[in-house]
Amino acid sequence: MRCVGLEFEEQINRLLAGMTRRQKVGQLVQYGSFREYERSLVDKGEIGSLLNFCGSTLVSDIQKAIMHSPNPIPLLIGDDVIHGYATGFPIPLAESCSFDLPLIEETAAIAAREASADGVNMIFAPMVDIARDPRWGRVAEGAGEDPYYGSLVAAARVRGLQRNDWDDRPHVTACPKHYIGYSAAEGGRDYDYTEISEQTLREVYLPPFEAAIQAGAGTVMSSFNDVSGHPASLSHHLLEDVLRKELGFEGPVVTDWESVQQGVAHGVAADDKDAVRIGINSGAEIDMNSGIYDLYAEQLVQEGAISEERLDEAVRRILRVKFALGLFEQNQTTPEKAAAIHRCPSHVETARQMARESIVLLKNDGAMLPLDKKAGRLAVIGFLADSQGDALGCWQCKTKKENVVTPLAGIRSRVSPDTQVEYYIGSGILDGSEEEAEKAVEGAARADTVVMVLGEACWMSGENNSRAHLGIPPAQQRLLRRVCAVNPRVVLVLMNGRPLTLTWEQEHVPAILESWQLGDTCGDALADVLFGDYNPSGRLTITFPRCEGQIPLYYNRRTSGRPELIRYLDEETAPLYPFGYGLSYSRFVYGPVSADADRLAAEGAVQVSVTVTNDSAVAGEETVQLYIRDETASITRPARELKGFQKLLLQPHESRRAVFTVTPAMLAFVRADGRLAAEPGYFRVYAGSDSTCEDGVRLLLTEPVQLKPPAAGKDANA
Ligand code: GLC
Repeated sequence: MRCVGLEFEEQINRLLAGMTRRQKVGQLVQYGSFREYERSLVDKGEIGSLLNFCGSTLVSDIQKAIMHSPNPIPLLIGDDVIHGYATGFPIPLAESCSFDLPLIEETAAIAAREASADGVNMIFAPMVDIARDPRWGRVAEGAGEDPYYGSLVAAARVRGLQRNDWDDRPHVTACPKHYIGYSAAEGGRDYDYTEISEQTLREVYLPPFEAAIQAGAGTVMSSFNDVSGHPASLSHHLLEDVLRKELGFEGPVVTDWESVQQGVAHGVAADDKDAVRIGINSGAEIDMNSGIYDLYAEQLVQEGAISEERLDEAVRRILRVKFALGLFEQNQTTPEKAAAIHRCPSHVETARQMARESIVLLKNDGAMLPLDKKAGRLAVIGFLADSQGDALGCWQCKTKKENVVTPLAGIRSRVSPDTQVEYYIGSGILDGSEEEAEKAVEGAARADTVVMVLGEACWMSGENNSRAHLGIPPAQQRLLRRVCAVNPRVVLVLMNGRPLTLTWEQEHVPAILESWQLGDTCGDALADVLFGDYNPSGRLTITFPRCEGQIPLYYNRRTSGRPELIRYLDEETAPLYPFGYGLSYSRFVYGPVSADADRLAAEGAVQVSVTVTNDSAVAGEETVQLYIRDETASITRPARELKGFQKLLLQPHESRRAVFTVTPAMLAFVRADGRLAAEPGYFRVYAGSDSTCEDGVRLLLTEPVQLKPPAAGKDANA
């Protein structure tokens, strides 16, 4: 559903004609609290939106109040529904590892439906920042490092959030964020400077926004960061030339928290008033919470520093969304509706399925997993094993930790009655008592098997939670080594919001599960995988480095002119676990990759296929991945790029053929002249189980194919 209503221009013009300048400015004003002052703005009809508070009765009352004001325009009510509203889903990075786009769309739709029942109509999601630096805490909120896959996930989440397939409560607009390049923060330090070339902007950071806008996103949120000298929320080039003219976005830009005012700190605005002038003239419509638009915009229009036309255009963009959402007709909801929708059984079951599919099996020496439910004496160790709050991860919205099934609870409910489960905290997240650790080590020594749940607290990832050291925190690490010294049968379950450096663990621990932060059904989904009721199928969407010194490290890198010489004196250059990696309880065997032709014409297509066999007695799902490499082009190109995937369910000893249709569009890239085009020449096409696959075919594209002309203003002859 599109949430930008161009068909309402008549009604919008009539509204604009009747509004005072002050009322128009009010539409650009958004506050994150609701006190006497904001109440007074509602009564005067001089505010356009509120954020981060909701509740069916409160919101309905406020909407009623503004509809009785002299300027009856309903409010946008925004909230950070990042991975679930009342039902807690896995963090978005975890969900992305499912490679299950329909399910990713479904969890977004459920979150939006639950949020709308509480009066929310603008959801500050999906976060679509392509993230290549795990020091940056917000990798937890996105879909990993790949622009192609990140674009598919962005579109799926927008479709889900804006499904709006219900009539009895306000509809919802998505708000893809953070435009743009926020994840490229130097050093992984949140909010820090980003150096992004126009080429990288179009190859890496723009595609998910383009996909989100094409999926109908009604609003976009601009970001805090300085993009090579241009703070995103105050950049006419980024907001008008690129976002609007190039990507065709017609809705309003919601600026991230007070980011226009931060133009003063960036040093591009002399003071708050100057920041307002720049922000509004740059195309930043809604000022989130700073109040400076409220203070200065009207005066700037009177002084002519902001034109009446620009003000009208800004209001028009906002009203398009309000009309598209049907807010003028329906902006009320009730506690009964919310109670009927929130955490209904089908929502919780969907959460469990998504949690199962988010888990990535990183190591399983000696097929130690799955465990027998008759496990004799099972020691479960680690503070996180019984921490409900940490399983919810960052941005917990209106989820409640009381609803979370912890790993310990999940294990206890799954083992057979004669299995003895002993729990030892052993160590906190960052520190631990020697006495607790001693008890845990003794318990481990007595156990048949040990399950250790280690990793990060929920507050160690997410906004402004960058880490320079990415190992399991030292107190937990020491405990892990002591336990491994007394018992060889250790399963490490990771609960974390970002890739961690796990070289010691990879060498010394026989089984490792990446479970991320799985939300409400954490323990049940984990038990499903631990005891074989679900065969893990997750695949990594972000690279796990061996150490911080390798960062930035991502799979779709350029080769350089001396690839054979690239090295560290003190570390390997390869990651510990590459993009696309994940194991299974099944054993998948790939046949040779073949193609039905070795040439591709402009209007043509080539079928590239590979047979995959499940050479085991366990049904399982394999995500067959297709990568391409452009051997010779007018600019350097990544060593490989994901261009397709198929998640196949294979029964024991079953073989299936994965067939991919390769077209020139899949071979296109943004040229230096800004054209999206495929250049004639040879391409390698690989198919396999992760981004390191080597088996493939060679295709010749016989002629150039242009898909998109250069962006307005780009020199077509560059
Ligand atoms: C925060 C975040 C943004 C969020 C907004 C509203 O600073 O950067 O993702 O949507 O403020 O809470």
